[in-house]
Amino acid sequence: MSDWQPFLGYSEAQRLATEHGTPVYVYDERRLRAQAEKVLNFPHAFGFTARYAVKACPTLAVIQILHGLGLHFDASSGYEVQRLLKAGIPADHISLSTQELPDNFVAFVPQGLKVNACSLQQLERFGKAFPGGRVGLRVNPGLGSGHVNRTNVGGPASSFGVWHAHLPQAKEIAARYDLVIERLHTHIGSGADPEVWERVVDLNLETVRQLPDVETVNMGGGFKVARVPSEQTTDLQVVGGRAQSRFEAFAQETGRELNLEIEPGTYIVATTGALLARVQDIVDTGEEGYRFLKLDTGMTEILRPSMYGAQHRFELLAAEERAVDAAYILVGHCCESGDILTPAAGDAEALAPRDLPEAEVGDLILIRDTGAYCASMPSKNYNSFPEAPEVLLRTDGSFALIRRRQTLDQILANELSLA
Ligand SMILES: Cc1ncc(COP(=O)(O)O)c(C=O)c1O
Repeated sequence: MSDWQPFLGYSEAQRLATEHGTPVYVYDERRLRAQAEKVLNFPHAFGFTARYAVKACPTLAVIQILHGLGLHFDASSGYEVQRLLKAGIPADHISLSTQELPDNFVAFVPQGLKVNACSLQQLERFGKAFPGGRVGLRVNPGLGSGHVNRTNVGGPASSFGVWHAHLPQAKEIAARYDLVIERLHTHIGSGADPEVWERVVDLNLETVRQLPDVETVNMGGGFKVARVPSEQTTDLQVVGGRAQSRFEAFAQETGRELNLEIEPGTYIVATTGALLARVQDIVDTGEEGYRFLKLDTGMTEILRPSMYGAQHRFELLAAEERAVDAAYILVGHCCESGDILTPAAGDAEALAPRDLPEAEVGDLILIRDTGAYCASMPSKNYNSFPEAPEVLLRTDGSFALIRRRQTLDQILANELSLA
């Protein structure tokens, strides 16, 4: 289900802004737990592991809550692995699927880290380091479903994973190093369409036929959530139900009872977060032009709109009722014409005005569904703006600071003077 419920009322938002300033990220613990439970209840035929794709929001408190609920983790870099280990996550709860295999994977594999080789070269490196070892293989099944090329991580335009037609080379490398390919991994991008997911499952099972030692199939993440009414949220019960029957049929036919893994990021955190900002200026470009609301946030906290035309809802929180006034373009505080918060859907170049109540300088604006790929994916410190703090709305209604606002000294800490 999409989350169209109010996130914060005016007085709560006012309290948050007073306690922590703006811009500030806020995550709702109750929503976070509810989304995680939905993922943990994904239908499955045999064994099942739900992983959280930590790249979506790697803040310690979020990791701790999800670990406490029993989720395992998907890391996308050696640094994410280290971050998870520092957070107290056991190495054998972490799987690494990365574009850049770090040298230190050699230290973590003996502790239990699961590596999914994402290219032939990575498989070779794993084989050299651990001859006779057990490894996963990320395969690009030739199909993708992202809404724009930049979110599409499957198909011929994507470099992620071993291209399905190169499977014989992967098997040859595995044989040379006596490797057991025990896991098959695919991740094809954001999608809500059960038909697409079903095709992915079928393609995976076809691949499993060629990999006799595979015991676990990881379907990746990419379970889309609606952030505006024109978008669709994935029904995990439907998608999982279809996967479950495919796995059962496969087991009947082959005797192989495969474990299932999924590793959503967006689905767990996107709707659990919001970003509170203030209108700091209002300008217009005349009758033929636009009215702009300039916020005290922008690509420094939320890059998704300017990067791929992502859509978010904006709520003006005022003490009194305001009439719906006009269409505004919302822009960020960076000296960058691309710092646009209201582009057209899927087209970061085009402006798409939003209807909002009449705004005044100083008003609070809540940007919804910023829990995923916002705090973790900013154009950090551009124009020397410090990282915004992150706050957790606890189940008792209190706000707990979970990441402090960065200071200018912290921004400058690694610079060396010539003087
Ligand atoms: C390998 C892998 N797994 C999981 C995810 C999480 O995707 P999402 O946040 O769309 O669920 C990603 C995201 O890019 C990914 O690359």
